[in-house]
Amino acid sequence: MSAKIIVGYIFLQEEIMGKFTVLNHPLIQHKLTIIRKKTTGTNEFRQIVGEIGGLMVYEMTRDLPLKNVEIETPIGKTVQKELAGKKLVVVPILRAGLGMVEGVLQMIPSAKVGHIGMYRDEETLKPHEYFFKMPPEVEQRQCIIVDPMLATGGSANLAIGALKKRGVTDIKLAVLVAAPDGVKAVQKENPDVDIYAAAEDEKLMSNGYIFPGLGDAGDRLFGTK
Ligand code: PRP
Ligand code: URA
Repeated sequence: MSAKIIVGYIFLQEEIMGKFTVLNHPLIQHKLTIIRKKTTGTNEFRQIVGEIGGLMVYEMTRDLPLKNVEIETPIGKTVQKELAGKKLVVVPILRAGLGMVEGVLQMIPSAKVGHIGMYRDEETLKPHEYFFKMPPEVEQRQCIIVDPMLATGGSANLAIGALKKRGVTDIKLAVLVAAPDGVKAVQKENPDVDIYAAAEDEKLMSNGYIFPGLGDAGDRLFGTK
């Protein structure tokens, strides 16, 4: 009897926690190490953030549905596969999320791009939304939110909430570096959103930075301070 209760409890726990996947492909890991280094300059940082974004989306879209289509090659008729199902929207959280967009679009050139502007108050670490622009009928698409950093999880949760308010139901989140606190916060508030990261780091520091992390992703991408 008590075993049944425990099994039921574990099942419930699994059901309410969103899925968190670290994409530890060797190319992703190698590139992430380069951008972690403090000596890596803006040019290289920007290029590699884009490349990792592309590799991550390649991995994240393994389960996209396919359908059979009849086509004609120069030699004759054949039935082959093409993508079926929902169209995609890439949604960078400004500013730093912009760095991942180019790489994602290289993998999925037909994806639309929606933007959510957000900044963290440096004292409270609370995010503030300042911009929201999506393609038409976004609620019929799958949205992949991209942002290099998942720290407290506040920005990601606010972005997910903003999309849900507009009727979007199919959302994934792709980050380069995740802090355990941020993962938990998103899993708790949005258990239906799968989170993908290139790495889960050791901890979130009291100043809101991820350790060891890679520093301030926005500043490193755009050469600001
Ligand atoms: C960074 C990062 C995330 C956010 C993560 O953005 O790009 O959006 O912080 O932190 P959180 O999980 O604690 O919310 P920032 O607010 O520094 O703005 P920026 O992209 O303009 O640099
Ligand atoms: N945002 C960043 O850019 N870096 C961090 O370490 C945390 C939040």
